[in-house]
Amino acid sequence: MLDGKKVLFSGMQATGNLTLGNYLGALKNWVSIADDYETFYSVVDMHSITIRQDPAELRRRARTLLTLYIAAGLDPEKNCIYYQSHVSGHAELAWILNCFTYMGELNRMTQFKDKAAKHADNINAGLFTYPVLMAADILLYQADVVPVGIDQMQHLEITRDIAQRFNAIYGDVFTIPEVYLGKVGAKIMSLQDPARKMSKSDENPNGSIYLMDDPDTVIRKFKRAVTDSEACVRYCDEQPGIHNLIDIYCACTGRTPEETEKEFDGKGYGDFKMAVGEAVVGVLKPLQERFADLQKNKDYLDGIIKANAEKAQYVSNKTLRKVQKKIGFPERVR
Ligand code: TYM
Repeated sequence: MLDGKKVLFSGMQATGNLTLGNYLGALKNWVSIADDYETFYSVVDMHSITIRQDPAELRRRARTLLTLYIAAGLDPEKNCIYYQSHVSGHAELAWILNCFTYMGELNRMTQFKDKAAKHADNINAGLFTYPVLMAADILLYQADVVPVGIDQMQHLEITRDIAQRFNAIYGDVFTIPEVYLGKVGAKIMSLQDPARKMSKSDENPNGSIYLMDDPDTVIRKFKRAVTDSEACVRYCDEQPGIHNLIDIYCACTGRTPEETEKEFDGKGYGDFKMAVGEAVVGVLKPLQERFADLQKNKDYLDGIIKANAEKAQYVSNKTLRKVQKKIGFPERVR
């Protein structure tokens, strides 16, 4: 609890271009539930360097991402939007939690296995302990709830395990966070391969819709989306491509899968794909316009970045000092 409200924490990596999956699985939910919580939304640039980054590009992407949070509808006066690397407590708590996390637990993380396979030439220790930094992010703010997509569930489970282990030794230090999944959109799949999730790092750009894609590109990608030969808009596991398009359509329009099936009853895939494309353009266009406006306002953004980093530093320090005391670090002499 902070100021009488429950606390929400979430973050995104400043790696690659944000996709519709990031938006529908996370960012959109962040906006819809923000008012009910005291919120912390971080641009997790420290997580990004587990994979080699070009420095100028990382800086540019981090700023773009922070601006997108605001463009998506998060008011930075009410929501603490900040860069992870501006708040020293993330690294400090991560180190401590490393000492309460087992190699065996980290070895089981599927995302580590995937990334290690993809970047076989750079399997660094940071990639391995990535979930511990994520646990530190969440536990530093005593978050009650963490809205993410399905692919982050395993990381949330290890966060809870670490927190419970720590609490069992030292008393109730950390709030045990709950995961928040949206009703639709928690797992958006690639448009080219509905068996794989839509991903920022996909080599085939036609598989992903990027938040900055212009309307023509969006429509073209949906027209090319992989479906099947059933020729009927039905929400079932046997038609994964159509299932995914229905999820996207519902997440963008607020309709249910049943309503969507009825709406496109007797219509072909061409009509349906076009409607999905237009629904997505309808969501992205206002976001892109706000983004363009915000980008012009450098001083405003800089002010937000400074003020929110200070707030995050202040709030997170409280947890950090408590943890340091509990584990026996010497008190600071004032
Ligand atoms: P990241 O940057 O990969 O993704 C950001 C958010 O987008 C969601 N997401 C998706 N949702 C639905 N369908 C998809 N295809 C899809 N792809 C991505 C993710 O689930 C996530 O919610 N490790 C995290 C970042 C992080 C974090 C945290 C999150 C660091 N610390 C603390 C929450 C709390 C990550 O790499 O997300």
